[in-house]
Amino acid sequence: MNREEVIKNYNDYIIGSYTKTGLVFVKGKGSYLWDIDGKKYLDFFPGWAVSGLGHCHPSVVEAIKAQSSLLIHIANNHYHPWQGLLAKKLSELSFGGKVFFCNSGAEANEAAIKLTRLYGNKRGRYRIISMENSFHGRTLATVTMTGQPKYYEPFRPLPTGFGYVPFNDFGALEKAVDAQTVAVIIEPVQGEGGINVADREYLKKVETLCKEKDILLIFDEVQTGFGRTGKLFAYQHFGVIPDIMTLAKTLGGGFPVGAMIARKDIAELMGPGTHASTFGGSPLACVACLGVLDAIEKENLLENVNKAGAYLRKKLYSLKEKYPGIVRRIKGLGVMLAIELDRDGAELVNACLQKRLLINCTHGNVLRIMPSIAVTGEEIDEATKILDECLAGIK
Ligand SMILES: Cc1ncc(COP(=O)(O)O)c(C=O)c1O
Repeated sequence: MNREEVIKNYNDYIIGSYTKTGLVFVKGKGSYLWDIDGKKYLDFFPGWAVSGLGHCHPSVVEAIKAQSSLLIHIANNHYHPWQGLLAKKLSELSFGGKVFFCNSGAEANEAAIKLTRLYGNKRGRYRIISMENSFHGRTLATVTMTGQPKYYEPFRPLPTGFGYVPFNDFGALEKAVDAQTVAVIIEPVQGEGGINVADREYLKKVETLCKEKDILLIFDEVQTGFGRTGKLFAYQHFGVIPDIMTLAKTLGGGFPVGAMIARKDIAELMGPGTHASTFGGSPLACVACLGVLDAIEKENLLENVNKAGAYLRKKLYSLKEKYPGIVRRIKGLGVMLAIELDRDGAELVNACLQKRLLINCTHGNVLRIMPSIAVTGEEIDEATKILDECLAGIK
């Protein structure tokens, strides 16, 4: 099949809900991708943070290979060894909760919404407050919880019980909390909303408010989780502990997995029949996640994020100094970084693409630079050299 044939199949048979780059990829390894014509690309936005260890990490590939000839799927009314093993690790590595497995970030957030309903119904409360510019998924409930009208407006009528407040504004949250409020959901670093890092003091105040008012604090760590910020979970930077945390993306190293972890006493509300996922927590999915955890530990990837993140940040700051008229600021945590431009970022993303560097632009003018957590200094040099050339080419 050639490039044109691949694209024709999409045009003829795939629902066109995605904006396309025009690239057709057939192979990936670490930070690199190869297209159907054999051209090599440096990927600094691997799968929107899904391939967080880089493409086809050996630890994930080997785990999937071995498991796929043993047992791929077993229904959740039976047991298998790997789901409990993975849940135990996730629980011990975070705040000691219990886990529900699903297949995506939106599903993990749906599970969290349903759990808050179970918690709130007994108390006559149901309302969830989320942040403006947040992103929580595309199902009807999670898109409603997403504090960006452009995503939910076309889908009215929407589920009820959601409200929004500005991010990092404690006064606004305090005012918005009412007798019906059961939960607050926050991304500790907003991803799609423009790489906005929460203030430590803000999160501490939110945690205290939630405790005082018996409100559940949910951290959506779908994008920030699994090492991206330099800790296994981003909440660990801030000295606060959520009641519920949602994960996906890097968790499966490219394999579709989502998880909701909830404080044990809350988790117990989800008894038999209350929630389910046919595919959730399959043997194949769980070994992929165990492979990711294994690589993070054996290859000291959290340390790598801290070192490589500091180096990448330094290089981005030097671009800011070199192009003060174009680069407004550098922001982010670990290898979840962004260049805020004084203009729309589409031209720069396209210029990078021409030079075979993949990055992303969100929120109009924020370039998301989110390489694999195993990124090397040489790859950072290569990427920032291309960014430099592309910034130099801007009129
Ligand atoms: C913070 C956050 N939550 C939820 C989601 C939705 O995840 P998924 O696309 O796997 O449903 C995303 C996706 O980008 C995300 O960044």
